Amino acid sequence: MKKIKSEKIDSLIHLFLELFEKKCLKKAVFSRPDATDEIKSVITPKKIAGNDILQLEIFSKDNKAYHINIKNDFYKECEQIFYSHSQINIISTLGDCQFMRSKGGRETIIGDSKIRDKLTGNSIDSLDYQSNNKEKKYILSGGEDFLKKLGISDENGRIHDKMQAKFRQINKFLEHIKSIEKYLPSDNLNIYDLCCGKSYLSFAVYHYFKYIKGISISMRCVDLKADVIEYCEGVAKRLGFDGMEFTCADINAYKMDAPVHLVISLHACDIATDIVLNKASENGARVILSTPCCHHELNHTINCDSLEFVTKHSMLRQKLCDALTDSLRLLKLEGEGYEVSALELIDPEDTPKNIILKAIKRDNINFEKIKKSREEYLLVRKFLLGEK
Ligand SMILES: C[S@@+](CC[C@H](N)C(=O)[O-])C[C@H]1O[C@@H](n2cnc3c(N)ncnc32)[C@H](O)[C@@H]1O
Repeated sequence: MKKIKSEKIDSLIHLFLELFEKKCLKKAVFSRPDATDEIKSVITPKKIAGNDILQLEIFSKDNKAYHINIKNDFYKECEQIFYSHSQINIISTLGDCQFMRSKGGRETIIGDSKIRDKLTGNSIDSLDYQSNNKEKKYILSGGEDFLKKLGISDENGRIHDKMQAKFRQINKFLEHIKSIEKYLPSDNLNIYDLCCGKSYLSFAVYHYFKYIKGISISMRCVDLKADVIEYCEGVAKRLGFDGMEFTCADINAYKMDAPVHLVISLHACDIATDIVLNKASENGARVILSTPCCHHELNHTINCDSLEFVTKHSMLRQKLCDALTDSLRLLKLEGEGYEVSALELIDPEDTPKNIILKAIKRDNINFEKIKKSREEYLLVRKFLLGEK
């Protein structure tokens, strides 16, 4: 049964649709429904076949969720939903607002006028509505020749079941590469993958710069294992990736050629990550992206009475040492003039080794900050290792 017309609800629908149109809508949650079999409904903006649509999800008491895509007649469709709920929360990039109808029928809205003011302003923070199909967001599709040659996908570009996590990992890493490419020169890139193993990442990075961005690149990959280096050389040859070079060496002894634009490393075991970071920094790498692997060193050497309440529990000791090791690595890089951050590489369900350390060489050297980070690094080291 249709409710009596309400100016407040009508103005809220207009506001909601304006937010949607201007790409500022995050979602709207509809609670206290008239329908007795419903718990709540949520509307989220999505992109389908290049068009912005509203996706309605109705959560019912039988634990099911029903999806309806609203592609046109937005006002009419929204009217039905707005009028059949007594509480509506709209969440947007410009702020949130809430509509409430009391049992006696009194209606209140809070937060709407602030949003309206911002909507009339010059700079509004807009969103890129996403498709539900997550695969579409990936940089690589699966059909790339190098993925087939490396055994990640089959001839039809379908990702092999056991390589799904690797495929997601490579794509995620490429997103990080995309986020730092503005710090790299626009041509003749010099990139290193230290502890490259089977070099999945190197092939992906090479493909990204050479074939997606059209940038000329020299990609050098180093690992201790002679057989994997030989295998990678063969794959690169078959692909015609002639800007790739593979070296069988201990990264400790390996000499890098300047200029070093980017150093990447994925899961270099234990202190091999520290060697990678030191090497990259010593050679003045512009950007470093490194995902650490296992952390054993500090777990064996920590000697700190104040942290004994944690370190006496072996599992917590390991977690603490993991976090301390990566934080110390970042602090050290900060003391060497880098802007640093620790980010999530991939879903922790895929691998627990999912942190990516990102370091970008500062253009303007802040001597004050460098000095402070160096002092802090030495102090923390002393504290953790019980050094006098
Ligand atoms: C866990 S694997 C990771 C390989 C690859 N980056 C990946 O993610 O698929 C670690 C690699 O580091 C290499 N490695 C460890 N210490 C090294 C060192 N000092 N110099 C060169 N390679 C090293 C190992 O041979 C191994 O291939």
